[in-house]
Amino acid sequence: MFIKKNWSVPKGVAPTEMDKIILRYQKEGYLVPKRKLIKTPEQIEGIRKSGELNTALLDMVTTEIKEGMTTGELDRIIHQFTLDHGGIPAPLNYEGYPKSSCISIDNVVCHGIPDDNTFFKPGQIVNVDCTTILNGYFADASRMYIIGGETTPEKQRLVDVTLECLQIGMQEAKPYRFVGDIGYAIQCHAQQNGYSVVRELCGHGVGVQFHEEPEVTHYGRPKTGMLLVPGMVFTIEPMINMGKKEVHFSREDGWTVTTRDGLPSAQWEHTFLMTETGLEILTH
Ligand code: MF3
Ligand code: CO
Ligand code: CO
Repeated sequence: MFIKKNWSVPKGVAPTEMDKIILRYQKEGYLVPKRKLIKTPEQIEGIRKSGELNTALLDMVTTEIKEGMTTGELDRIIHQFTLDHGGIPAPLNYEGYPKSSCISIDNVVCHGIPDDNTFFKPGQIVNVDCTTILNGYFADASRMYIIGGETTPEKQRLVDVTLECLQIGMQEAKPYRFVGDIGYAIQCHAQQNGYSVVRELCGHGVGVQFHEEPEVTHYGRPKTGMLLVPGMVFTIEPMINMGKKEVHFSREDGWTVTTRDGLPSAQWEHTFLMTETGLEILTH
């Protein structure tokens, strides 16, 4: 198989220890990142600030989201809060997306479009996904919210296990391990709990653009996918289904993703920085 030679050291420049490690993996046939995926300290500072705004935004959602409110209303509050703090909501007009957030209820896996006819009801499990642009830097995170604070034990367990999937995936991510190590750990935990992992959508590099390399799948095999190197910034955002893994893409609105079997789905997302020792959450 042909693997792209993503890493090189400019002529006349002495390779650093990091260069040597990456070049060794590349020579062995592993997929390594392009140099531009390693963020500069200045970029990391910018993404960190954007992450702080993103966290404030999702905290605000915690207090605002209520039974009887529409998804459209919540989206307008998210939009205004972002502008008031000097940011721009990245989803708005992204590839034609019409709103400032994604709000996905129960059997909606992701990319639920807020509108004025969808009211929050007690017991619903709701993913609110916000991506913030601040001074040109992107931070992307989502959380699950339970309307009225209580749901069925089945849906509660799905929400909890999905958060565990994110945490377990996170622990696997260490320098010079692989994206596939993350996916493998997530897939094992989901399946051990009787759940399935959505395959059509994945995590992604983020920071300078909304979606960058690498693709962070939430399933896979150890030692596959891209090598993880300090300075990379990416999301992990497992979508876990209570039933079967198959999803349906809306042909009407071009965005909404639902489970084929109609059973609930949950998702949690953070933006992470790979450090010398492991992941740091930038959306905490
Ligand atoms: N926030 C989503 C993600 O985690 C992407 C949403 S794209 C949008 O990658 F256009 F629907 F906003
Ligand atoms: Co994302
Ligand atoms: Co997101």
